[in-house]
Amino acid sequence: MTRINSFIFKSFLIVFLTFTYISCGGESNSDKQTVDKSNTSGLPDWEFKNGFGPIKKKLYLMPIDKPMAGEGLKIFESKCAACHKLDERYVGPAQRNVLQRVTPEFFMNMVLNPEENVEKHPHSKEMLAQYMQKMTNQNINLEDARKLLEYFRLLDSELPKK
Ligand code: HEC
Repeated sequence: MTRINSFIFKSFLIVFLTFTYISCGGESNSDKQTVDKSNTSGLPDWEFKNGFGPIKKKLYLMPIDKPMAGEGLKIFESKCAACHKLDERYVGPAQRNVLQRVTPEFFMNMVLNPEENVEKHPHSKEMLAQYMQKMTNQNINLEDARKLLEYFRLLDSELPKK
């Protein structure tokens, strides 16, 4: 008898916990971006905002360097456009407004180290669930990742500000 009761109790507990888990998951949807979001992920604040990878300090950003952005555009076309368009969903998310979703540091860490972010970062995991495809490592070096960032800073500066 007590065994049956304890079985019933455990079953209820499992159902209850599952629902609690699902409803918490629902709430954290509003947390999927790394810009201006409060950290409820359990990750250290730096990683939560800026992702995992070689960029471990805030970037010191100068005014946009247009020649660098121009080179970034070429890199985007050769290494990223197979999966990303600027304004439409493709294999991956539309990228024109990426810097409104993620910090510049996260952008570079994602480009340099997508595997670890997809595995550990809530924003990338959320994107993975949406796109059902992992971003693959394009073997971009630090300098080229910086040029890509410059290109997206330029696109961002042309967007209407919220
Ligand atoms: C093989 C396809 C593929 C290639 C090539 C690729 N990506 Fe992605 N990318 C994805 C997918 C799919 C996602 C969403 C899932 C994820 O996060 O893994 C993504 C996510 C991202 C994100 C996450 C942040 C966001 O909110 O959009 C950034 C930044 C990004 N890609 C930039 C790039 C850049 C820059 C390049 C070129 C160096 C590139 N990607 C090349 C498929 C790709």
